[in-house]
Amino acid sequence: MIILGIETSCDETAASIVEYKGGVFSVHSNIISSQIEIHAKTGGVVPEVAAREHIKNILPVVNQALVKAKVTAKNIDAIAVTTGPGLITSLIVGIETAKTLSHVWHKPIISINHIEAHLYANFATNKKVVFPLLALIVSGGHTELILMKKHRHYKLVGKTRDDAAGEAFDKVAKILKLGYPGGPVIAKLAMKGNETAFNLPRPMINEKNHDFSFSGLKTAVLYESLSKKHNFRNKKKVADMSASFEKAAVDVLIKKTAHAAKQYNVKSVLLAGGVAANKRLRADLKNELKNEIPKAKFLLPDLNYCTDNAAMIAVAGCFHARKKEFTPINKIKVDPNWELS
Ligand code: KG4
Ligand code: ZN
Repeated sequence: MIILGIETSCDETAASIVEYKGGVFSVHSNIISSQIEIHAKTGGVVPEVAAREHIKNILPVVNQALVKAKVTAKNIDAIAVTTGPGLITSLIVGIETAKTLSHVWHKPIISINHIEAHLYANFATNKKVVFPLLALIVSGGHTELILMKKHRHYKLVGKTRDDAAGEAFDKVAKILKLGYPGGPVIAKLAMKGNETAFNLPRPMINEKNHDFSFSGLKTAVLYESLSKKHNFRNKKKVADMSASFEKAAVDVLIKKTAHAAKQYNVKSVLLAGGVAANKRLRADLKNELKNEIPKAKFLLPDLNYCTDNAAMIAVAGCFHARKKEFTPINKIKVDPNWELS
């Protein structure tokens, strides 16, 4: 089975060809046209600008994905496209492209939830999973703990009550005048900083529920940055703050995930979403789980499939296509607030 995946939910225009054969996934192409440089000028994504860029880029990106994979329309079995959650004007570009190609090529469409695709990015590299599974999804718009008893059955057991983890990285980077997106730059500076230099809060870390909160942590960084005690023009200070913030955010994520994993007695824990690219989070979560729930298997997405990409859309599409879960063209709709469970 060969699936064309299309992703335009935020600021990456992406297309990918994934083949599923004999129980094995092969990513034949994974093309991403990033708008980071454009949105860096405004310190964040301007939806109207993102949509215009998607319109410009989508057909060349789809074409590149086909050429790189050495396939033509006739080899493709179905088109998987993100229909939510995300920015409505961005999603529409991918959806209308998929609908047009589906009509012209006579191929079925699979409507894909972006968060489900982040989770299924883990299977692009053919990892084996044992259920029940707990997934920590950490992206720019979401921070959720999802319990799965089997494939594609989701129960939301915890989520952020305010900012998402990625959003907190982005907002702290803005406070420290580090540009957009904040995650990668904070992670890089953190490697040179002292994580104990600032005593930052770890909101909700000891609460029994599985929810998160990051806005207080971000506000604590803001107050420190305004304090006359520190000079944030000094590069060492910025590195120290980056390290202290990253450690505080990661501490909350790993403690709460391990706590939920123990409570639900899961057999696997899976990490997914853009913030899953964070090396400290990857390493610390692995250690925490090894100590707290040693029998659980830990699944980490390949670094190529953490931030937004279309390979994850195509992989999720394969799972649906295997069950013949296609969406009639007239029923495809944009769903900017689509909740996974
Ligand atoms: O999943 P994603 O690409 O887009 C959404 O679905 O939101 O996630 C983007 C988020 C951004 O907030 C970005 O700052 C964060 O992921 N991110 C990181 C790292 N790389 C990307 N956060 C922390 N450390 C990183 N290395
Ligand atoms: Zn995403």
